[in-house]
This record gives sequence, structure tokens and C-alpha cells, in this order.
Amino acid sequence: MTETVWWRGAVFYEIYLRSFADGNGDGVGDLVGARRRLPYLAQLGVDAVWLTPFYRSPMADGGYDVENHCDVDPVFGSLEDFDALLAEAHRLSIRVTVDIVPNHVSDQHRWFMTAVAAGPGSPERDRFIFRDDAGDGSPPNNWGSDFGGPAWTRLTRPDGQLEQWYLHLFGPEQPDLNWEHPDVRAEFEAILRFWLDRGVDGFRIDVAHGLVKAAGMPDNAVLPPTRSGTSYRPVGHQWDQPGVHSIYRDWRLLLDSYPGDRMAIGEAWVETHEALARYVRPDELHQAFNFHLLQAPWEAAALRGAIVDSLAAASAVGAAATWVLSNHDVVRHVTRYGGGTAGQRRARAAALLMLALPGAAYLYQGEELGLPEVDVPDEARRDPMLQRSSGAHRGRDGARVPLPWEARAPGLGFCPPEVAPWLPWPEDWHELAVDRQHGQTDSVLSLYAEALRHRRSQVRSQPQHVEWLDAPPEALLFRRGTMACGVNLGDAPLSAPAEGRLLVRSSPGPATVLERDAAAWWLVPAQA
Ligand code: BGC
Repeated sequence: MTETVWWRGAVFYEIYLRSFADGNGDGVGDLVGARRRLPYLAQLGVDAVWLTPFYRSPMADGGYDVENHCDVDPVFGSLEDFDALLAEAHRLSIRVTVDIVPNHVSDQHRWFMTAVAAGPGSPERDRFIFRDDAGDGSPPNNWGSDFGGPAWTRLTRPDGQLEQWYLHLFGPEQPDLNWEHPDVRAEFEAILRFWLDRGVDGFRIDVAHGLVKAAGMPDNAVLPPTRSGTSYRPVGHQWDQPGVHSIYRDWRLLLDSYPGDRMAIGEAWVETHEALARYVRPDELHQAFNFHLLQAPWEAAALRGAIVDSLAAASAVGAAATWVLSNHDVVRHVTRYGGGTAGQRRARAAALLMLALPGAAYLYQGEELGLPEVDVPDEARRDPMLQRSSGAHRGRDGARVPLPWEARAPGLGFCPPEVAPWLPWPEDWHELAVDRQHGQTDSVLSLYAEALRHRRSQVRSQPQHVEWLDAPPEALLFRRGTMACGVNLGDAPLSAPAEGRLLVRSSPGPATVLERDAAAWWLVPAQA
């Protein structure tokens, strides 16, 4: 089977808007800036962009605390700016998907403000998850917020009296919605329609595994922390409940009622491949982020296991697999793979591995430049996670530092020289700038552009089936039809398949042998 609809094999590019390009010169990326840089993405060769939230928000969590889902925050521009970006993207044949945040809203959202004012027992409070105090001043259950501390905050009346608790799986400024309530369902269907009617091609569903909580909200067993080192594993009664799937069945019907193959991808951090596959059954979401490749260490067996299991789980439900190495929530993969020269080499090889696989690939802005995680000084950090976790987790700002566009410009071409970017750059960031890498045959940017070009012409149309070929234990070698991909993670040399003709290599070297931390694609003769 080859791909039929556009999203099955598309390359998506995540634009973390506040760090992509600043159009109005305030040090924060915005829609105008992003629109101006779209030709760069067209030249790179991506099929679609995913825009992180640009809705009205007090920005307690970088915009993932939405106050009004149908309006643009002035920091990011206006609805007209959005329409202009969408039109320009479509002119350049780039599809546009937007982030939808249905698990929670901002505490400044009209519903939450009214619920607080209306008081305990009011119908307004039913749209959220409020609980009385049991009498001992402890939260209603032991669930933890994803950002650290308890998942419950107790309201205080203006006269100082304590009253009910409300649930927030993230920050206290992000109260969870009650998805048992019909208003919540109706509101989000209206939001989806609002953006579909404007012409978006799809949605990324934030925290797709969190909307429905276990009946009775029982205590969790004592669980290991959700974040350790570079990995993130939410487990407990607040995540991945069976009831969540009916929401996506309704959304699928809604999306299918629009022309033009509109799609949705769920951000579902779940434990097993099978659990993930439930989100992409034929009548549910089109795709779900598969984080198994991202969570695998740079070891052949772990990478191969992630690939084999992901493909099996996706194909069991007839879904296309998805692949991702980095996003705005995790440590960038150059750094995860060891940083420095080794991290750079491995990240280049990983890009060829990911882009050779059947299914859709999601790139995170800056990975095409080889950007590493930045050690942002604590006083400059903005992610609420640092404070909420009492410093235990330094937060996600290190992956969110604005893109360097022009090496010689004082604002690195991201913002004008007289303003400071919202997060500071490291000293040597100019060396990684787009204009430095552009046209340099050995740059990461050139590697990505070349890989994306070959992917369109030679890889995408290949069979979806991955056939593993003999290779040393510390290497991966597989073919899809007439293309083969090899990645060497060990010291034993990895030879190209017989009669393989080199298409692209992750680092300079011979065409038929790969050394440690190198990857390549070859064209191979069709099988007899
Ligand atoms: C987003 C995060 C955000 C969280 C709460 C996530 O999964 O990607 O950046 O903090 O949802 O909305």
C-alpha cells in the first residue's frame, strides 16, 4: 500500500510561534513574522506546519492557558494576520494545522471567572472539576500536577474564607474542564468549526489523553515522578481513560463533514503502543504522536524495538505511523544523544532514520539547524515548571530559545537589534544561523533539505512495509521497496546493500560503508 491522503506521509514542521520569527519587533515571535518566513519552509520542503497556540491568553503556560479560543492574542497578532498566514501558506502549498487545547482553559476564561463568582453548588461550577474540602484541609485526592505540586488548588473567598478545591492537571492557572458536561462538548465543536471554516487543514490536540478522568477520581498508587531525565511518562487515573475515545469519534465525524481531507493528531502520552493505537482507530483521530522513538536512547536495539512495535501497533488498526524526535516540551535530541560533536552526528543520522520510515514525520523548529538544548540561566527562564517543581525540573525553556536566522544581525534576524528576545541566546548561537548554513553542502540545513527532497521523489511512494536486512548487532538496515536505509551505532562497519546507489549520507564518507553514528539512504534494485 502506498499513501493515499496527504497527511499519511507528510512532513510536518512545528512552529513554536513565540520563538520562530518576530514580525512586530517586540522580541516575541508572532504570526506576521511566521508568514514572512514561510518561503524558508517551502524551500526546506515541508508539507505542513503545526502552529502552537496563538489564542488570547494570559500566557501562564506560553499560551497553553487559553482565554478565548476564537481570537488571536495581541502578542501574536490578529485574526487578519492569521488569515494572511494561512493564505500565504496555501499559496506555497504548505498545509496549516493549529493547536487545540481542550483539557483545560485559562483561569481568566469567562467560564471559570463565572464559576468562581457563582459559588459552590452552582451549575457554572459543573463545567469544571470542583470538590468540597473533606474537612481536613487536604486536597480531594493525591493526584499531582504535571508541573509539580498537587493537582488541586483551593479557592479563597474575598473575605478570606477557604472554600472548594478545583482540579488542574497542569498549572493552577489552567483549570481542567469537565468533559461530562454538554456545554464543554458543544463549545469545542464550535471551536473546531470556527477554525475549519477559516480554512485550516487540521488540528493538533493538546493533552488528548487527559480529558476524561477515572470515575470517582480515586487516589493513585504512589508513582514514580512523571519526568525523569529526558523522559516523560504520565501514569495514573487521570490519564488515558476509555471514555475519552467517544470525544474523538464525534470530532472525526465533524472533520469528515468538511471537504479537503482535514485531519487531527492527538498528543497522547500513553504507556504502550496498543494504548496509542486506540486513538487512531478508523473512526477516531487520524494520527497520534508516537513518542517511542523520541524516548529511545541512541542504541540500535532500542531504536529498532521502537520502530517495529510502533509500525505493528499502527498497522493493526490501519493507521499511519508518526515519528518525532523533538518538540517544545522535551530536551532537544542533539543534547539527548550526548551533545557536542557526537550529539550532532547522531542527530543527523537520526534525521535520516526518521525520514526513511513509513508514515508522517514531525520536525521541531531548529532541529534542521542542529540546535542543541540551551542552558538558559534560571533568572531568564519563563516556564512555570521551574517554579512549580521547586527547581526539581528546570523547565522546557532550553528547547524554546528563538531561532537564529542571520549570523551577523544583532537580533540574529529574529528580532530588531534594539530589543531583547524573550529568551536569551547563548554566545555562539550565530554559528548555527540559517544564513550560515544555507548553501553549505555539509550543513545540517542542507542535509534536511536534501533528505526532504529525496523523501518526496524517492521515499514516500515506496511500500509502507519495512523489511529488515542483515546488519551487525549495533546497526540498523532496512529496505522499503527500492530504497534502503542504514544507521550504524557501533564500531563494526555497516556495508550498503548489494548494488546500493547512494542517495544521501548523514556525514561525508564512502558511499557503501557507514562508520559509527553515520546513516545513509541508497536506491536498491527491485526484488525479484
Ligand atoms: C503542551 C505543553 C503544555 C501542556 C499543557 C502539553 O502537552 O505541549 O507545552 O504545557 O500541554 O497544556
